[in-house]
Formats: sequence, structure tokens, C-alpha cells
Amino acid sequence: MSDNLKLAVIIGSVREGRFGPVVASWFADQARLHGEFDVDVIDLAEAHLPLQLPAVPPAMDPNPARPDGMAELTARLDAADAFVIVTPDYNRSFPASLKAAIDWHFTQWSGKTVGFVGYSGASGGLLAIEGLRQVFNELDAHTLREYVSFPRYYLLFDEDGALRETDEPAAAARGMLDRLQWWARALAAARAIPALA
Ligand SMILES: Cc1cc2nc3c(=O)[nH]c(=O)nc-3n(C[C@H](O)[C@H](O)[C@H](O)COP(=O)(O)O)c2cc1C
Repeated sequence: MSDNLKLAVIIGSVREGRFGPVVASWFADQARLHGEFDVDVIDLAEAHLPLQLPAVPPAMDPNPARPDGMAELTARLDAADAFVIVTPDYNRSFPASLKAAIDWHFTQWSGKTVGFVGYSGASGGLLAIEGLRQVFNELDAHTLREYVSFPRYYLLFDEDGALRETDEPAAAARGMLDRLQWWARALAAARAIPALA
């Protein structure tokens, strides 16, 4: 049996004409090349993510009633050993779609590790990434210090969605994936320890 880790790569933006899937597809290829991951690319545009959250926070009720259209997303987040979030900057933060997906869940993130791939204008997704670190801290998830960033991504990818220069981003992805697999294995062992009351 393969002891590959289950890595969920999450496309955070859902708008029409978005660039997110191009970046996620590139990163998913890097993760498959790395060799230690079974990669599941999750597109939030396919999930029903209402802004009306449950009456009780998922931290208190880990299994709230969720819309039928969210069931597949929840199951795929549950199954993941680790996450990489692909996010643009929207007004110096991350997209509301991503926040909704995060807020509808708790145990699915808790005790797992999260890496980031950012893209946007000058800030390359870093403002979104820094905001997400705070959010995942509250969810008891570990965020990696390594990241991949594409500032002014429209200059870095060609019209077919291929990177013009591949070496540097590939090295950044490899470095992050190395750390991700270490944390994912360490945290999988840690999750087997009974939680504090
Ligand atoms: C609502 C909105 C806000 C944005 N705010 C920023 C921003 O603060 N900084 C930045 O560099 N780019 C910003 N952008 C540009 C996006 O990073 C760029 O459009 C990117 O393609 C968005 O990701 P998406 O195509 O996957 O939706 C913004 C775009 C949108 C739609």
C-alpha cells in the first residue's frame, strides 16, 4: 500500500474568468512530480458555500448540518492529510469564497498543515497569505513558513498558461513540498495522540 500523503490543493477564487485554476494546475503538477503526494485539486466554484453559517460555531459543534451541495467538499477536506491554498489578493486579503469554505469547517483543518501559493498584482498573494495564517491559527492548523508567490503573474505566465521561467518557481514549490510532507507526517502521528479535554 502506498504511504503517499493526501494533499488537497484548493482553488480559492470562484469568479468568472479567474486565473486561479491555471496556478493550481501548475502547482498540482509540481506536487505530483515531488512523488510523496496523492493530489486532489478542489475547486470551490463547484461547492455550495452560503454565507449564512450555522447557529453554533463548528469549533463547538464539529458536525453541523451543512447544505447538500457542500457534502463533497467536506468529505474531501476530511480525507486530506495536508492542504495547499491557491489564493489571489482581493483588496489586500483573500477571497470571500475561501473564508466561507474555511468557516463552515473546523475538524477538517484542525491538527493539519497548510501551505500557500499566492498570485496577484505587485503583492503576489502575500497579503492574502498573511491573513490566512491568522485564520488557520484559530483553527489549530500549522501554516508553513515556505510559500510560492507570483507577483504580477500576468507577466510570468504566457497566453497558454505556461510559466515563462520555470526553475525558480519549481524550486520554491519543491522547498515548500519538502516541508509540507515533514509536517504532514509529524501531525498525522500527533493526531493519533488523544486530544486534551
Ligand atoms: C475584487 C478584487 C480585488 C483585488 N484586489 C487586489 C489587491 O488588493 N492587490 C492586488 O495585487 N491585486 C488585486 N486584484 C487583482 C487580482 O489579484 C487579479 O485579478 C487576480 O487575477 C485575481 O485572481 P482570480 O483571477 O483567480 O480571481 C483584485 C482583484 C479583484 C477581482
